[in-house]
Amino acid sequence: MDRKIIVAIDGHASCGKSTLARQLANKLGYIYVDSGAMYRAVTLYFMENGIDYRNKGQMVSALKNISISFQYNNKTDMPETLLNGKVVEKEIRSMKISQEVSPVSAIKEVREFLVEQQQAMGRNKGLTMDGRDIGTVVFPEAELKIFLTSNEKIRAERRYVELQEKGIEVTMEDVILNLESRDYEDSHRVMSPLYKAGDAIELDNTYLSEEQQLEFALNLVREKISELHKSEFKEAELNKAGL
Ligand code: DC
Repeated sequence: MDRKIIVAIDGHASCGKSTLARQLANKLGYIYVDSGAMYRAVTLYFMENGIDYRNKGQMVSALKNISISFQYNNKTDMPETLLNGKVVEKEIRSMKISQEVSPVSAIKEVREFLVEQQQAMGRNKGLTMDGRDIGTVVFPEAELKIFLTSNEKIRAERRYVELQEKGIEVTMEDVILNLESRDYEDSHRVMSPLYKAGDAIELDNTYLSEEQQLEFALNLVREKISELHKSEFKEAELNKAGL
């Protein structure tokens, strides 16, 4: 599979987008970007530095001091997010950030700031990115778009276990309330609301194991790449024939 593509994965909170995007990138040797981590890192910066994000001037000048990057942690075998050079993977997953991130991600200037960086990451293709607007706004021309869905109860249980594993204390009730409010806000905001792109393939993973969902997505990538090879071959033949 020498031809590299962009795989855009969108969906509601905690439906397994990051897991799928990360595992897919591992298998394909692609770069993986968790765009939600970028919105979380901006939110953390605002909170740590007492930035009133409702004050446009203050918020816009704060954005100039934010640098977000990713690195691979060989010990945990997982990517981690850096905010101004400091690893903030645990901090950005806290409940405090989860409660504040939706209003921050609804701000036009924040989205423009991050979308530009996300698009630059995809310039050379060979990338999987997950989020809410990846197939609609960030990469509307992505070769493959997956819209992931999952039963609400299962999503809450998964997020609860994930937070427990990270040593973050929460109640199941808090997790459910947070997922419900973020899903509502993320789907109803004016700027880049979450919705399924017309050309996205919907994948409900409620009854699928991680391995099964990965295999399904890998097959979609294989089909897409072979389709692209075929159409390029056809075009080259037509050119050769001077048609
Ligand atoms: O993927 P996540 O749940 O970690 O994302 C956190 C929040 O960031 C989510 O509630 C909405 C916002 N977000 C967004 O607006 N656009 C994206 N592409 C990714 C995340």
